[in-house]
Amino acid sequence: MGLVAQQSLRPEVIFLDLKMPRRDGIASLRALKGDPRLSQIPVVIITALGGSEETIEAMKAGAYDYITKPFDTDEVVRTARRAIEVNRLWREVERLRAGTATTGAPEPSGIIGRHPAMREIFKLIGKTAPTDATVLIVGESGTGKELIAQAIHRHSRRFAAPMVTVNCGAIPETLTESELFGYERGAFTGAVSSKPGRLENADGGTLFLDEIGDLPLGVQVRLLRALQERRFERLGGKESIGADFRLIAATNQDLERLAAEGRFREDSFYRLNVVRIDVPPLRARRSDIAELTEHFLSAARAARPNAPSGFSEEAMRALITYDYPGNVRELRNIVERAVALARGPLIAPEDLLPLTDSAFGARAGLEGLLEKPLEEALAALQRVMIAHALERSGGNKAEAARILGIHRQLLYAKLKELGIE
Ligand SMILES: Nc1ncnc2c1ncn2[C@@H]1O[C@H](COP(=O)(O)OP(=O)(O)O)[C@@H](O)[C@H]1O
Ligand SMILES: [Mg+2]
Repeated sequence: MGLVAQQSLRPEVIFLDLKMPRRDGIASLRALKGDPRLSQIPVVIITALGGSEETIEAMKAGAYDYITKPFDTDEVVRTARRAIEVNRLWREVERLRAGTATTGAPEPSGIIGRHPAMREIFKLIGKTAPTDATVLIVGESGTGKELIAQAIHRHSRRFAAPMVTVNCGAIPETLTESELFGYERGAFTGAVSSKPGRLENADGGTLFLDEIGDLPLGVQVRLLRALQERRFERLGGKESIGADFRLIAATNQDLERLAAEGRFREDSFYRLNVVRIDVPPLRARRSDIAELTEHFLSAARAARPNAPSGFSEEAMRALITYDYPGNVRELRNIVERAVALARGPLIAPEDLLPLTDSAFGARAGLEGLLEKPLEEALAALQRVMIAHALERSGGNKAEAARILGIHRQLLYAKLKELGIE
């Protein structure tokens, strides 16, 4: 940024493009931020590149905001005003950043999203990753919470140490405590040797507590104390152990409501809710469906090269209008299944049956379908389709027959033949 420095301009805000003739925007941004005379000036990146990686990198390098082309003028003006206003706050962020070491380029996050809500998330990841602030990620199941936690970890100064994941909902309540804090020999029946807990494993790195809403109240007390004191004891142990980890928690539940109902501790909630990332459900960011679909399709095609190369227009429309109760995870499953089942060069709407939980049992029968004898494969497929139609019709057989395009009597016969209840 020779220009700014040499001409001793005193801009209140700087706009930078990521792709410029002689120097790339990130390098310019770093140079600005590295110059003590200029580092306080808020920098707004304007670029055609709106991917998660560019956004996270730019925010991490200290950009104030990130605007994707094409932009509207009002947005630019609003951003400039805000940038100037929060200049003071910006110094505070800088102060926090000052304590962090610079690292090599992290692995790309692989988070797909251009929807404004996702871009805000990328910005937030870039801003908070270098700090040690506790992050609470809230969103429905399958929205990408774990992916976001990984991105925060990878972009943090702790990237070389592990991110240790504990699914609080998957461990029986009685084991949660020993799993987290570890135990000494003889702490309880069956503790034949001592074992470090997940907190100790996460030393130097990140502890990711998934489904934090399921953490038993008693364990919350102990965790809170460990967070405050940065020390704790193993079960049955006397020695105080230090563990330096950054905490990221995720939940698909409304913790405030749980707290109001006494099912989650209020003090835990406030301790966790320092930086909060709300991940919208996929149906609230439909503009990302096409790109996600392409992404999962090309990943699935890598395993099966002669698979269909794309989606029919109608299939794409079905994908974009579907509501995805299982969010991105469900979209991925739908695409993978379609790739495995589709026969034509393009995936058709009928290859996209979004199977729900109760059809799941039948769906297991589709595993290895292509390797099965024809009769068996056809029976398995019919079972899945019928289960799905019944699911959609709420158990109404006449309606299910209509969905399947067969006569009601034929459906009755098939139910009997295939042994479906
Ligand atoms: N924005 C995204 N871009 C690419 N893949 C995604 C995205 N969001 C979710 N996924 C994929 O969807 C699946 C579920 O994501 P995950 O992070 O486990 O969700 P959650 O923890 O919220 O249940 C994973 O396979 C993940 O890689
Ligand atoms: Mg998860």
